[in-house]
Amino acid sequence: MEWTRQQRYQSYDQYSAQTLLDLQRQAATDPKQVRYHLHPSSGLLNDPNGFSYFNGLWHLFYQSFPFGATHGVKSWMHTVSEDLVHWRDLGLAVAPDTEFDSHGAYSGSAKAIGNRLFLMYTGNHRTKDWERIPYQLGAWMNKNGQVEKLAQPLFVNPPHFTEHFRDPQLLEQDGHYYALLGAQKTDGKVGTFDLWESTQLEEGWHEVGEVNVGQSDLGYMVECPNYVDVDGRAVMIFCPQGLDQATASYQNIYPNMYLTADSFDMTAPQLVNPDPQMTNLDEGFDVYATQAFNAPDGTAYAVSWVGLPDTTYPTDENNWANVISQVKELHYKNGHLYQTPVKAMADLRHTHRATMFTGTPTMIKEDAGQQFELQVTIEQDQKGRLLLVGDEAQEHGVFLNFDTENGQLVIDRAMAGQPVAEDHGTTRILTIPAHQSLKIDLFVDHSLMEIFVNDGYQVATLRYFADQSHGQVAFLSPTNATGTLWPIKPC
Ligand code: FRU
Repeated sequence: MEWTRQQRYQSYDQYSAQTLLDLQRQAATDPKQVRYHLHPSSGLLNDPNGFSYFNGLWHLFYQSFPFGATHGVKSWMHTVSEDLVHWRDLGLAVAPDTEFDSHGAYSGSAKAIGNRLFLMYTGNHRTKDWERIPYQLGAWMNKNGQVEKLAQPLFVNPPHFTEHFRDPQLLEQDGHYYALLGAQKTDGKVGTFDLWESTQLEEGWHEVGEVNVGQSDLGYMVECPNYVDVDGRAVMIFCPQGLDQATASYQNIYPNMYLTADSFDMTAPQLVNPDPQMTNLDEGFDVYATQAFNAPDGTAYAVSWVGLPDTTYPTDENNWANVISQVKELHYKNGHLYQTPVKAMADLRHTHRATMFTGTPTMIKEDAGQQFELQVTIEQDQKGRLLLVGDEAQEHGVFLNFDTENGQLVIDRAMAGQPVAEDHGTTRILTIPAHQSLKIDLFVDHSLMEIFVNDGYQVATLRYFADQSHGQVAFLSPTNATGTLWPIKPC
């Protein structure tokens, strides 16, 4: 359906309880719904927000428009987990119900402070003339999950930034609170990072300045900036919209990039000794708005929206859209950022139903379905194709075209089923080491695939929309490989 502005921004009170129930049923019963990843209970989901550890639980909120597959007035939905894999839905946490967030409780972060969780986010307000004011807002959540918003905004955009000034990440360094924001400069309409400081949190915020990350091109707007310490390395994860393809290559409509540095000096503010080149965080088709944070024990975790702005997905027809990636642990080794599944992902395996293979198999499993994990090691100097979610004729499915002689892995979703964002290509090409074996750990969840390459050296995430009866996993020619396929239990 076509949504008018009036429909997208009308108050949640305008919808009946029955409408919401119907939408929830639609989202829950869609055969293409994911079964072991976070997904919207209804309507559209986008950025993960407020990823944190508080009161003995992991907390993850997400941007939601619960009433359909459109970017309507956004709120924060709340979920909690004990293991970063099984998430319990606690429903609406931050509603767009004040003057300051009237047109959306936009993205932000959360931090446990004392015995409460502080939520910091952007309130999207539109004036009668439809001018946007991005208020940076605060709220406290207590141990019972009750949220109380601060009465006044923490700050707004100063004149040297346009209305595109949002997504604060609340940080703490040397007794100071800092908020890292994505911004667009008024001068030249270019993207940048902006840092604010306060010692009091609920007030006293002032601008420290733009963060020098050592890049001259950050597109026309930086969204969802995140700083995280990964094994002693400073890592900045962000979405530079409109980035020149010559600055860093990417194929998705908007990229999700990262930079690493020796440290983040928040007083300067600058990244110290940053990488000269930014890198795609995910080499697949659909990852955006990744949020990362350091857990109390220092481990860095990241989670992403699997979906892209300005993109339609086939489930829009069923009034829901988008999912959240599995949580990944981040590590920095030998000068490289690794992303790996968290330990508890292995608890989802049906071990007694595993299929093991070794030698030169072709058929791995005729009826693997679309809810499994596959670990496979392909020997060096092999060229071939691995079919996933394939039909009997082996014509439809997601194809992994590997060449361990020359060092290339091509992920091809052209023949998977209903198309998605074909304007931005139907393949993604990963460079892998030549003349070496290739290790893949991949997760399939009905319309989502996450592919970890060489122990998380690279990750490629994609949505695909295949007929659910397509469940074949096969090499299309004899290949020297070993591996295991586990059916996965639903969460
Ligand atoms: C990124 C984004 C954020 C914004 C939010 C609104 O996807 O545009 O910049 O806060 O989504 O839902």
